[in-house]
Amino acid sequence: MWRPGSLSRARLAARGTAGHRRTPCPGGDQAPSRLSPDRISRLLAERAPRMAVHHRAVARMAATLARRIGLDGEALYAVIRAAELHDVGKIAVPDEILNKPGALTEAELSVMRRHAVAGEEILTGFEPAAVGALVRSSHERWDGSGYPDGLRGEAIPLGARIIAICDAYDAMTNERPYRPARSAAEALDELRHGAGRRFDPALVAVFVGELAYLATRVTQ
Ligand SMILES: [Fe+2]
Repeated sequence: MWRPGSLSRARLAARGTAGHRRTPCPGGDQAPSRLSPDRISRLLAERAPRMAVHHRAVARMAATLARRIGLDGEALYAVIRAAELHDVGKIAVPDEILNKPGALTEAELSVMRRHAVAGEEILTGFEPAAVGALVRSSHERWDGSGYPDGLRGEAIPLGARIIAICDAYDAMTNERPYRPARSAAEALDELRHGAGRRFDPALVAVFVGELAYLATRVTQ
């Protein structure tokens, strides 16, 4: 079974799917002298412990959904890697907003929303540009009401549409200080309700079908 972090470049190469090259950085071909995205992700998890579990869960679901629709090679890698790191830009969000035990105000939301672009910046030079692009767009909405670019429909990268569904499902099925966790059935209803508005309707159908299939296997 795939586990987050297990899809190494060596394994990709061994499977005949060419690994990717590091995006060249200005001033040379060395990695930037910055903290790596994985290191930043670990620092973020120290500030918000639920984040590590959330990233792993979203990556696991995104891998399943991406494979189910036929992605492989570098496209699959990009989805999984972006899912693992989609919230890494929250390192730039102050503690009082990141860990606020209540709903955020509009002003706080606008600070929180900067994490999508911050995440892409953190990945630049460490991951292929496609991974950063997915992180940037993982909060776009099918109807164009998302952020940071207000992309609509298929203008939103496919991998970002996958991550948006998995992210929402994991968020809904886990409790927050200001609300209880919703059941799987309630979360799936919410996804269906958001199909064609917040989420890619075709992907929601696949996601719902896949979860139903897994549920029957678990109960057999
Ligand atoms: Fe998330």
